[in-house]
Amino acid sequence: MNTKVVKVNRIQPNAAALVEAGDIIKSGGLVAFPTETVYGLGGDAFNKESSRKIYEAKGRPSDNPLIVHIANITDIDKVAMDIPKVAYDLAARFWPGPLTMILKKRPELPKETTGGLDTVAIRMPGHEVALDFITAAGGFVAAPSANRSGKPSPTSAEYVVEDMYGFADMIIDGGNCEVGLESTIVDLTCEKPLILRPGFITIEEIGEVVGEVDFDKCIIDSSSDEPPRAPGMKYRHYAPKAEMTLVSGPSDKVVKYINDKTNEGAREGIKTGVIATNETQYSYAAFSVKSLGPRRDGKQVARNLFRILREFDDEGVDVIYAESFEETGIFRATMNRMIKAAGHKEVNL
Ligand code: TXA
Ligand code: MG
Repeated sequence: MNTKVVKVNRIQPNAAALVEAGDIIKSGGLVAFPTETVYGLGGDAFNKESSRKIYEAKGRPSDNPLIVHIANITDIDKVAMDIPKVAYDLAARFWPGPLTMILKKRPELPKETTGGLDTVAIRMPGHEVALDFITAAGGFVAAPSANRSGKPSPTSAEYVVEDMYGFADMIIDGGNCEVGLESTIVDLTCEKPLILRPGFITIEEIGEVVGEVDFDKCIIDSSSDEPPRAPGMKYRHYAPKAEMTLVSGPSDKVVKYINDKTNEGAREGIKTGVIATNETQYSYAAFSVKSLGPRRDGKQVARNLFRILREFDDEGVDVIYAESFEETGIFRATMNRMIKAAGHKEVNL
């Protein structure tokens, strides 16, 4: 398949390109598009053949449901039913934005799109290009993140091209994603709203709207035997090619530990990558040292993680050591992805 790559400016979106992208979706094709979180690989949510194609392009198991992206809050009830009031309260506060809600699905929506589930994940992204594209596509675009399954989600078009060239009919290049991590997922089909995936919108912010919130056990406790409620959370994710270890403890000890490990490795020809912060980056002597940003700047830290993991892949590092963060606010989302990228390999000093 020939993939067309089109640059679209966020301030002045190229209307003709978005109409073409919409037509591709309407005729059953796939288009990768930017959102504020990460790039998505979109297909017509009401076309089961499109959903099948998405699974194939991603190399993703078909029991892992897709998120239906909409461009108008009032379209929720075209894909979902028995919608509780809190859904509208959350939408009013956070949409368009990085929040996905799980609701009971309407029977018209094919099960292929929801991985066989009776529920549907819905989100209205906070990105002008995404909204114009969804509208041009008829209003309902099913999309997972536009990475090959298991790789970090793409936060710029160059990584979408790397993973999806030849699999998507079109890639809309809208520049870098400002959030850089996937949306927060909240399940509203349980008694109490349940967070299935932490994200940019924090648990505390959601709590302000809905009152008490629960956490899927599998997010907090990696040794939990229960299956995660978001099927995607059970798969190895965000994984760089190199083996990664998260190191926590007092900063001086963390720096010393990582430098010792780097030197040990260097003697055997092992190339080490370090994920540091602005405060510590010059204290490391390794093959490649990258900073996530200032330690207290949760937004910047979140934005840079997936890009850095991809860069380490390109540079061919053999092992990665990463500084860790306290699990509060938005750092909870970043740590969730880092722990997964490390396959739960953590050292506490
Ligand atoms: O920010 C985002 O959410 C990005 C952009 C493109 O919108 N999308 C994204 O999609 O991260 P994906 O497919 O990579 O992750 C969706 C997650 C998966 O873990 C999936 O299992 C879960 O949402 N999910 C989808 N539908 C669900 C449902 N009905 N019940 C429970 N979990 C669901
Ligand atoms: Mg994904």
